[in-house]
Amino acid sequence: MASLEWSAALSLELPVMDTTHREFVERLAAAEAAPAGQPQQDAWQALIEHTEDHFGREDRWMRDTHFASGNCHSVQHKVVLDVMREVGEKARDDVHLIASVAPELGRWFTQHAQSMDAALALHMRRVDYDTLTGRVASPGALPDTAISGCGSAVCATAAH
Ligand SMILES: [Fe+2]
Ligand SMILES: [Fe+2]
Repeated sequence: MASLEWSAALSLELPVMDTTHREFVERLAAAEAAPAGQPQQDAWQALIEHTEDHFGREDRWMRDTHFASGNCHSVQHKVVLDVMREVGEKARDDVHLIASVAPELGRWFTQHAQSMDAALALHMRRVDYDTLTGRVASPGALPDTAISGCGSAVCATAAH
């Protein structure tokens, strides 16, 4: 059984984000279930490529809605992608590595979706952001200064 499965607890009621997150969960499960060796490395690479798009889109949404470039959500994306790429490299010599890392990545994803992505989804709804055009329909709801945190409770605690 996959260590992470889609559930209502992961839904952020933002279809454009939920669809990608569902795909992430499916691809992670596929990588976990693939036979060790080349098939598993290929599935891991497919997960990396999907995640590059996934994080890249969220980073763009943040740039479009007044987040600072070094905000903690985007930084976390970069750190996690770097780790995923490193795992992909090392898995060539260690055929058990992907199977041992996948549940960790699943746990990280759950926490990330429920904090940073949830805060971003709320922000996008508040400013009425259109992901297709990149336009903010309620610019008055944007903060005066660029957001350097991620707007989640984790950041709110760290800021005080
Ligand atoms: Fe996400
Ligand atoms: Fe994210």
